[in-house]
Amino acid sequence: MITSTQLDGIALVVGSGRGIGKEAAFSLAEAGARVVVFADMDEETARASSEESKNYASSKDYQTTTFKMNVEDDKSVQDMVDFVVKEYGRLDYCVNGAGVDNGVHRSLADIDIENYDRIMNINTRGNLLCVRAQAAAMREQTPKTWQSRNGTRDIGRGVIVNIASANSFAGLPGKGCYTISKHAAMGITKMAGLDHSPDGIRVNAVCPTWVRTPLLDEELRKNPEVQGMISAIVPIKRAAECEEVSDAIAFLCSPAASYINGTSIIIDAAVTTTVRLF
Ligand SMILES: NC(=O)c1ccc[n+]([C@@H]2O[C@H](COP(=O)([O-])OP(=O)(O)OC[C@H]3O[C@@H](n4cnc5c(N)ncnc54)[C@H](O)[C@@H]3O)[C@@H](O)[C@H]2O)c1
Repeated sequence: MITSTQLDGIALVVGSGRGIGKEAAFSLAEAGARVVVFADMDEETARASSEESKNYASSKDYQTTTFKMNVEDDKSVQDMVDFVVKEYGRLDYCVNGAGVDNGVHRSLADIDIENYDRIMNINTRGNLLCVRAQAAAMREQTPKTWQSRNGTRDIGRGVIVNIASANSFAGLPGKGCYTISKHAAMGITKMAGLDHSPDGIRVNAVCPTWVRTPLLDEELRKNPEVQGMISAIVPIKRAAECEEVSDAIAFLCSPAASYINGTSIIIDAAVTTTVRLF
């Protein structure tokens, strides 16, 4: 018997070579996932992360592997899902974390449309391709139940968690391309949750503000004022640790979240709640 926050199935994490995706994969392994597949365009970091996950996995039967793919490529996304189902028999938990940041900040009137297309291709179209292939595979498998203290709970056929952003709800001056792409990622989350609820598939998102990842380090190097912005804007005066996001992802995958669907957890220490008067 497993507790409500424990996992015991097959997990696929897209964008798990580094950053939030990597920590999400570790949190799923820690919570009891029997298999974690590390999918990423960067095979080397995916392999290193997959290897490292063995240190945290709690299932005695834990298995892990990698899959090189690109969310911009429809066939590569489909191949990834087909691989997991063929190799492990089903797909219980998917996390979609492959994403890119805005690049140079520009007002909407000055947006570079090539940059916009690139970001939308990865953050939005790529996310849609992943959710489409994952939901189609989950729809075909038998639903699961979980034994609670009050009886048997239906926990459905599978769970998908998208890594969206606080920018799915609020903007940041000059960050239009990214903000638009992450609003759309929330649209995908809502629609997939709605459309596939009758199939027993839950689709949710986590929406963090700044998280301490290589991507943030890169942004800080290019734009040191971001550090000042974090201190000024985030009430807790620091960026989130990756674990503070990945633990919420593991929760959303678990039986404890079995009635949560088509929505998101905003992980922002109250940034999006704050009205700024100066
Ligand atoms: N870092 C933050 O502060 C922050 C805040 C809010 C939301 N997010 C979102 O979280 C997600 C992960 O961000 P991160 O900071 O961990 O980024 P990251 O750059 O550290 O990691 C992203 C991973 O995705 C992979 N990837 C990128 N493009 C890909 C593609 N086309 N196909 C396959 N894999 C690809 C990269 O190789 C990398 O391993 C992104 O969607 C980002 O928008 C990040």
